[in-house]
Amino acid sequence: MSYLITELEKALSQVIDPDFDKDIVSLRMVEDMNVTGQVFSFTLVLTTPACPLKDQFKADVERAVASVYPDLSVELNFTSRVTTPRQENQDMLKGIRNILLVSSGKGGVGKTTVAVNLAVALGQSGAKVGLLDADIHGPSIPTMLGATSEKPGMIQDGTKYKMIPVQKFGIQVLSMGMLVDPKQPLIFRGPMQSSALKQLMLDVEWGELDYLIIDLPPGTGDIHLSLAQQFPVTGALVVTSPQQVSVSDTRKSIEMFNGQQTKVPIVGIVENMSWFTPEDHPTEKYYIFGSGGGNELAEEYNLPLLAQIPIVLGLDQRSDQGIPAVLNRNPEMSQYFKQMAQSVAQHIAILNAKETVLA
Ligand SMILES: Nc1ncnc2c1ncn2[C@@H]1O[C@H](COP(=O)(O)OP(=O)(O)O)[C@@H](O)[C@H]1O
Ligand SMILES: [Mg+2]
Repeated sequence: MSYLITELEKALSQVIDPDFDKDIVSLRMVEDMNVTGQVFSFTLVLTTPACPLKDQFKADVERAVASVYPDLSVELNFTSRVTTPRQENQDMLKGIRNILLVSSGKGGVGKTTVAVNLAVALGQSGAKVGLLDADIHGPSIPTMLGATSEKPGMIQDGTKYKMIPVQKFGIQVLSMGMLVDPKQPLIFRGPMQSSALKQLMLDVEWGELDYLIIDLPPGTGDIHLSLAQQFPVTGALVVTSPQQVSVSDTRKSIEMFNGQQTKVPIVGIVENMSWFTPEDHPTEKYYIFGSGGGNELAEEYNLPLLAQIPIVLGLDQRSDQGIPAVLNRNPEMSQYFKQMAQSVAQHIAILNAKETVLA
C-alpha cells in the first residue's frame, strides 16, 4: 500500500459508524481505495442498501479526508452486503438472509399496510425482497399491490413442483389469496394453517433474498408459534396504533415473542395512525386515536420505536387501486414509509451484529 493510501486509511479510521460504535476501517467497510490525480475514491460497504446514514457518512468522510489532504476530492461509492444472523450450516431456506415477521395485537391497525410498504421501500432501495401474506384468514396483499388476478408460476424441481412468486413493484410476492378463489371463505385451522404456510415458505423458488417479510395474522396463535419454531427467523416487527386497547393487545404479542416457546427477537415497534394533519393546516397534528401508545411500549420493553406513521386520507382508495403509499407522488407521504424502512433495515443489522457477538 502506498504511503498516501495508508495515510488516507488512517483518516478514514476516524469515521465512526454510530450503530456499531466502531470506526469504518475496523468494521471492514472500506474497500477499493484508489487515488487518481486529485481524486480519492473508495467503496463503503453498508449492512443494508436502505442505510439511513449515507449522508452522514459522506459528510464525515469528506471532513476526515480534508483534514489531512484538503486538495483531494472524494468519490464515495456505496454498496451493501446485507447481514444475516444465520449460521453457514443452516440449510433450510438457505438463500434468505433475513426472515422478518410483521405482527400486531389486533386487526385493523395497519399491519398489512406496513408490511407492503416496507417491502416495496426496501426493494426500491436496491435490496432483494420477498413478501409473504400469511394472513390466511384475510389475505389482502394482492389487493394492496394490484395483483388480484396474478397467479404464481410453477417449475419442476426433481420430483417436486415449486412455485415461482409473482413479481410486483420490484419485489417477489406470494399470498394465500393467489392460490385460492377469493370468494371462497377460508377455513384453515390450526395444523392445516401451519402446513399451508410451510408450503408457502418451502415449496417456493424464492432465490436469493435479503429480506423475506411475512405478514402474519393478527394476535397470537398456532401460526406464530410454528413459524418461530420451524424457521430461522431474524426478528419480529410489532405494529400498534396509539390507543390503549391496541397497546394492551400489542403487549400480548410482545410477550409471545419473548416467551420460552418462541424466543423471537423483536426488531422494534411501528406506531401507525399516530396523528392526522389536515391539508389546509399543514403544521397541526391531531391525535385522533390518542397518543403515546408506541412510546409507552417502547419504554416498557426497552425496544426502539422505529416509526410513527400519520393517518393519510385516501390511503384506502389508493391501496385499493393497488399502488402502495410509498410510491405515491406526494413526497411527504412516501417519506414516512421510506424512513420506516430505513429504520427497520438499520435495526435488523444492529440485531444481527449482536447475534454474531453471541454466537
Ligand atoms: N396510516 C394510515 N392512514 C390511513 N389509513 C390507513 C393507514 N394505515 C392503514 N390504513 C387503512 O386501514 C385499513 C386497515 O389497514 P390494514 O393494513 O389492512 O390493517 P391490518 O393488516 O392490521 O388489518 C386499510 O383500509 C388501510 O388502507
Ligand atoms: Mg392485514
